[in-house]
Amino acid sequence: MAFDKIVKGGSVATPNGLVRADIGIRGEKVAAIGSGLKSPDAEIVDAKGHIVLPGALDVHVHLELPFCGTVSSDDYRSGTRAAARGGVTTLIDFAIPYKRKRAGRDGEYETLSEAADNWHAKAEGKALIDYTFHMCITNYAEHQHQIRDMVGRGFTTFKEFMIYASEGWQSDDGAMYGTLERMRDNDAMLLVHAESAKVLDSLIARHHTKAMMKKYGARLHAMTRPNFVEFEAIQRAVTWSEVTGGSLYIVHMSTGEGCEIVKEAQAGGVPVVAETCAQYLVLDDSVFGKKDGHLYACCPQLKKPEDVDRLWEGLRSGEVSVVSTDTCTFTRRQKAMWKGDWTKIPMGMPGLETLLPLVYTEGVLKNRITIDQMVQKLCTNPAKLMGLYPRKGALEVGSDADMAIIHPKKTIKVDHAKMETNADWSPFQGRSLAGFARTTIRRGETIVDDYKVVGKAGTGTWLPRKSAGVPT
Ligand code: URP
Ligand code: ZN
Ligand code: ZN
Repeated sequence: MAFDKIVKGGSVATPNGLVRADIGIRGEKVAAIGSGLKSPDAEIVDAKGHIVLPGALDVHVHLELPFCGTVSSDDYRSGTRAAARGGVTTLIDFAIPYKRKRAGRDGEYETLSEAADNWHAKAEGKALIDYTFHMCITNYAEHQHQIRDMVGRGFTTFKEFMIYASEGWQSDDGAMYGTLERMRDNDAMLLVHAESAKVLDSLIARHHTKAMMKKYGARLHAMTRPNFVEFEAIQRAVTWSEVTGGSLYIVHMSTGEGCEIVKEAQAGGVPVVAETCAQYLVLDDSVFGKKDGHLYACCPQLKKPEDVDRLWEGLRSGEVSVVSTDTCTFTRRQKAMWKGDWTKIPMGMPGLETLLPLVYTEGVLKNRITIDQMVQKLCTNPAKLMGLYPRKGALEVGSDADMAIIHPKKTIKVDHAKMETNADWSPFQGRSLAGFARTTIRRGETIVDDYKVVGKAGTGTWLPRKSAGVPT
């Protein structure tokens, strides 16, 4: 059999564990996995002494997002270069319909289709890895009627935010309930940002005084978001999933109590799954007491060490299905917009470049999870849930030839100044991490070589999907 490229002699992550094997690539696809593969004209990628993983999927990313009075500073060029360097070959962003400046016959909000077009334009000519979008329902009254058409257009995941009224994005229970019914009927899945808006708003109002801000600074972000702000909201969303039968995916789950709710719901047959993000696994809310503590503000915020431990436990026992990043990069200058008022901090952090290195170093090398579990959480599960499997998320004959080749031990010290992200700081600055991609291959093309990005902007492609959801 003739190949264009052979990845030789690596330990390949397969559904049966790590296996010493060669991978033959023809065009954009994996054509063979076996030992002693040969092809006279094939380019050889030496993977001896390395682990060959399916390219990771980061299914929670915001690039060039207008948010909190500014625009997040990683776009499709820097963001997808950062992703590639971290072994991520597929990302899913969130396409958000905004309120029109002037409501007219076309409605008060942009349509889902217009939002998809806007996000396509952001990616066009810039993306280095493959991508698609979750469609955000920001005005249920209008958007409910557009869901079926968007599924027909290849978008099978939708998103609702239980907070962010000030952005014009907030959904209520009626919207979640109705959308979940539509998810059930269209083989699609609803992603929910679960935080309890009314209680959160009243806690913020109680603390929003000059004296409190002077005394507590960025710590107020954690003080106004006790765990029940998240877990009450998760419980409510789970109820709507249970009574409708619609697939529900809790994004960026950060609390131990959230794990318990999801675990119990899953045991009762509710079609719900949960994602956490790398930052909730390796940082806790003590960072808000640091000099630059406001830099770490994201929603939901980092929680306590016991939540961190419970999330790792959730990855092992199964109620946490996916690890993503919620990348939403803001520079120091953007973060400085807070001027001492935590409610004005642009919320979010960089993350794409360090997803795999953090989970590999803190998870696999510290024996918190196995390498098979890491592959499930970064590759197989996100691909399956989001309707991209087996094209993505697996090293199987016929899958896209997407690979991250990592050295099992070699570490690189995180330094934002040497990274691809546009962030001028890193939440993980100074950490020595193994698991950066020595080589990243995306649809057969080498886009990272010897830890450096070599791929060209604009070669990433949009990924249409037919369905998505929690397997029943
Ligand atoms: O702080 C965050 N997470 N920023 C991005 C928006 C969101 O809630 O995911
Ligand atoms: Zn969110
Ligand atoms: Zn997000």
